[in-house]
Amino acid sequence: MIKADMDWPNLAFGYYKTDQNIRFTWRNGSWDNGVLTSDETLPLHMAATCLHYGQECFEGLKAYETKNGDVVVFRIEENARRMIRSCKKILMEPPPEELFIDGCFRAINANRKYVPPYGTGASLYVRPFTIGSGAEVGVKPASEYMFIVLVTPVGPYFKTGFKPVDMIIEEKVDRAAPLGVGDVKVGGNYAASLRAGVAARKKGYADVLYLDAKEKKYMDESGPANFFAITKQGQYVTPDSETILPSIINMSLITLAEELGLRPERRPVEVEEIFEFAEAGCCGTAAVITPIGSITYRDRKVEYCKDGQPGRYCTELYQRLIAIQTGDAPDPYGWVRVVPK
Ligand SMILES: Cc1ncc(COP(=O)(O)O)c(C=O)c1O
Repeated sequence: MIKADMDWPNLAFGYYKTDQNIRFTWRNGSWDNGVLTSDETLPLHMAATCLHYGQECFEGLKAYETKNGDVVVFRIEENARRMIRSCKKILMEPPPEELFIDGCFRAINANRKYVPPYGTGASLYVRPFTIGSGAEVGVKPASEYMFIVLVTPVGPYFKTGFKPVDMIIEEKVDRAAPLGVGDVKVGGNYAASLRAGVAARKKGYADVLYLDAKEKKYMDESGPANFFAITKQGQYVTPDSETILPSIINMSLITLAEELGLRPERRPVEVEEIFEFAEAGCCGTAAVITPIGSITYRDRKVEYCKDGQPGRYCTELYQRLIAIQTGDAPDPYGWVRVVPK
């Protein structure tokens, strides 16, 4: 396979044009078979519900090239199921699990030359999304939907890669409301978080950490990733909250933490606990594991990596996860799937 001519080790986490994307349409009660196209734009009715009433949800997963040249994806069924939950929550027609996986595989196969070569640290980011494409003027669900998959090669989400980042706890902006849609991957949650994220980056932080919207007492998550910490007593702790997105990477880290003897716990995490943790990190498909170097909370700052190096457990979890994701280590959990050609 002749690869595209790209600066693989220095890719940003951004959009690079690839050859094709795939589109499925749901109309009159059924999904069509999907078509591949090189068109990067969408023919969309100006009254489509995705444009006015936020009927939009998306997923994100990464495809890696392995040492032997296969292309593999990680726990893709979980992404498919989460998209179904997202669609149902905002009354959109969900693409069935098999259609979701078929769409991702066809989009990856149409762009194999953009899958970053093994060992470059980059990956092919797969972005499936569903939109209400039918026209409505009243506030109601659309009668037509599109499921689309675009792919783009990416480097690390945080520019520093596997280096500690500085985070700030945001109390003046809520990302998601209790009984709202924070637990699904709908665009509105990200729109709500933009102003806090941009303001934090202007102040020199990598991103924000949100507290629970009701009491401002418990840790929630960051804009694009879940939060976890390692206690001095050797526990992997991650927030239990109805307003965070159930992260597939976090779910996997809970399993891997157990392997490392870290006694995982998903429970409400009080913000005051951050001053007691030994290590902290963000986790997700894009962030993988991003170690947290410091958290600023009001006028206090806690530092986890005084020598600028990620902590022992963040490092071990990162290495173990990446080894499984890229096919370097055996996959005892059946998480990795080869993309059939
Ligand atoms: C708000 C939010 N939380 C957490 C995650 C991490 O989820 P996952 O591990 O499934 O990528 C993401 C990214 O998908 C996200 O956008």
